[in-house]
Amino acid sequence: MKRFLILIVTAVLLCGCSDSKEDKKDKAPVKELITVGFSQVGAESDWRLAASESVQNALTAENGFNLIFDNAQQKQENQIKAVREFIDQNVDYIIIDPITEIGWDTTLQEAKDAAIPVIIVDRGVNIKDPSLYTAWIGSDFELEGERACAWLKSYLDAKGIHKRINIVDIQGTLDSSAQLGRTKALEEAADRYDNWIIIGQETGEFTKAKGKEVMENMLKSYGDAINVVYCENDNEAFGALEAIENTGRHVGSDLENGEILLVSFDATRAGLTLTLNGNIGVNIECNPDYGMKLVEMIHTLESGGSLPHDQYIEERIFSAEPMVNSVWVDGHTDKVVQLTQEIIDARSY
Ligand code: AHR
Repeated sequence: MKRFLILIVTAVLLCGCSDSKEDKKDKAPVKELITVGFSQVGAESDWRLAASESVQNALTAENGFNLIFDNAQQKQENQIKAVREFIDQNVDYIIIDPITEIGWDTTLQEAKDAAIPVIIVDRGVNIKDPSLYTAWIGSDFELEGERACAWLKSYLDAKGIHKRINIVDIQGTLDSSAQLGRTKALEEAADRYDNWIIIGQETGEFTKAKGKEVMENMLKSYGDAINVVYCENDNEAFGALEAIENTGRHVGSDLENGEILLVSFDATRAGLTLTLNGNIGVNIECNPDYGMKLVEMIHTLESGGSLPHDQYIEERIFSAEPMVNSVWVDGHTDKVVQLTQEIIDARSY
């Protein structure tokens, strides 16, 4: 199946009548759809649901696509199986949001051998031959982490807090680009600032349930010593918040009075609401809205054009804390968006 054909059969065709002038006018043309196999990570987070919706709303039959959507349920073996099935079906394009960065060389080579262009979205792949995929669009996860750490540093400086800061890192799915980039930025910041100590580090698998479980364990191990929890996504922050509140401790930015400061990523509607309430100190946006970008990318390829091999999607920094208005990251100043209810109301996810 190189192209999926749909025939909109008119009543005239069904009754087998001969072609009158009127009949010819009623016959709809044969519409050729582009078949795309999309292997999605899973449904582990609010962000992920928004990302799936963005793709499903964009790659529609009205827009000229026949989308085959596969949910890999956070298991790379499912994802590889799905991609192989797309190859067997001889789809026109394969889109992959890879669960982990590693383990892709063989499957991508199979797609290349079958002459099926592969677009990678959101997370990246770590492969020997970059020509195994046509294009990648996604987040700069390390920059996201750097932004979070730059905000934390500026906030602590603005408050004049120079004491030891004990940090718990609830990591994302291990070996995913989102985890690797965000963890790396935190570890580098902790190496840079003598008073930042990562006292606990464990994966919360980007879910609320696991985030809560990890936080409960950290509270048992470190109790009142914890100052900052670096949650590698919003759902983990939701779980961590519940675990902390269950012990009677408070989240917030008043570190001198025993509050635990939460840092989070994604900036979903629920995450931003907690940020506006002061439960999360800073929330770094991770943009899930790449559906229409994928449509444009495929149209470009269809018309014989070429795409940048790798491109980053735009993202922002949100906080309700007025003490830090901008942060210095990667050699330039990034604005911190002062959160308002209007911004949250405008959020679709
Ligand atoms: O790859 C993006 C990350 O994966 C998001 O931060 C997280 O919520 C998701 O599950």
